[in-house]
Amino acid sequence: MRGIILSGGQGTRLRPLTNITSKQLLPVYNRPMIYYPLNTLLKAGIKEILIIVAPERAGDYSNLLGSGKEIGAKLTYEIQDEPRGLADAFIIGENFIDRENVAMILGDNIFEDDFTAEIKNFKKGGKIFARQVPDPERFGVVEFSGSQAKRIIEKPKRFVSDYAVTGLYLYDYRVVEAAKSLKPSARGELEITDINNWYLEKGELEVAKVKGAWLDAGTFDSLLEAQNFAKEKLAGKMVI
Ligand code: TTP
Repeated sequence: MRGIILSGGQGTRLRPLTNITSKQLLPVYNRPMIYYPLNTLLKAGIKEILIIVAPERAGDYSNLLGSGKEIGAKLTYEIQDEPRGLADAFIIGENFIDRENVAMILGDNIFEDDFTAEIKNFKKGGKIFARQVPDPERFGVVEFSGSQAKRIIEKPKRFVSDYAVTGLYLYDYRVVEAAKSLKPSARGELEITDINNWYLEKGELEVAKVKGAWLDAGTFDSLLEAQNFAKEKLAGKMVI
């Protein structure tokens, strides 16, 4: 299993904090934000990791993390010229993924759960992780029929369920083909929701539920919450 951390984007909701640096390099208690998703991958035994970054911040990431030798990993970097959407990660990462399975995690997502077993046991198809949230209209949401996922809907206007799709995704190498087949959505992005539905239509998407906390540190309030959560619950359990 290879890992991708998607760490580009513009971080517009955190301006002016993000005027001169990348959101995912901002401090979350005693570490840069990206250490948390990196920790999730490393803990699960993933050692080959591609970090996708925005062009103007690439040097900062390599200064911070380098080759990865010090943390027992092999880190490589790719530039995303423009924030074309989450599914763009698999087009940028085509050569890196090759014929392997891949775990993609968003650079601003912080998980309490340990995904080691889920990642080690993943064989093929797609697997995503959903969590109940109070504001599902902000996310890709899983519509269930009984315990079976029926459809993934991006930012539903009407309530379908309160299970949001979180920012950790496991796929086999066919994800590259799926990403290349996508057309940009109305907001001009290649949507990961379309990738999930691509697998779902084939009957090959598994949806697991996240038990512990899940934070995306993309707003002032969620960043503050993440800081406190990291201090109270995560600081002692990190491998980096
Ligand atoms: P978002 O939070 O949706 O976007 P953003 O980080 O640019 O922030 P804002 O909405 O405030 O402008 O992105 C979620 C994560 O995915 C975040 O870690 C950035 C990353 N991302 C990319 O690397 N490339 C992209 O094309 C997009 C859309 C997001």
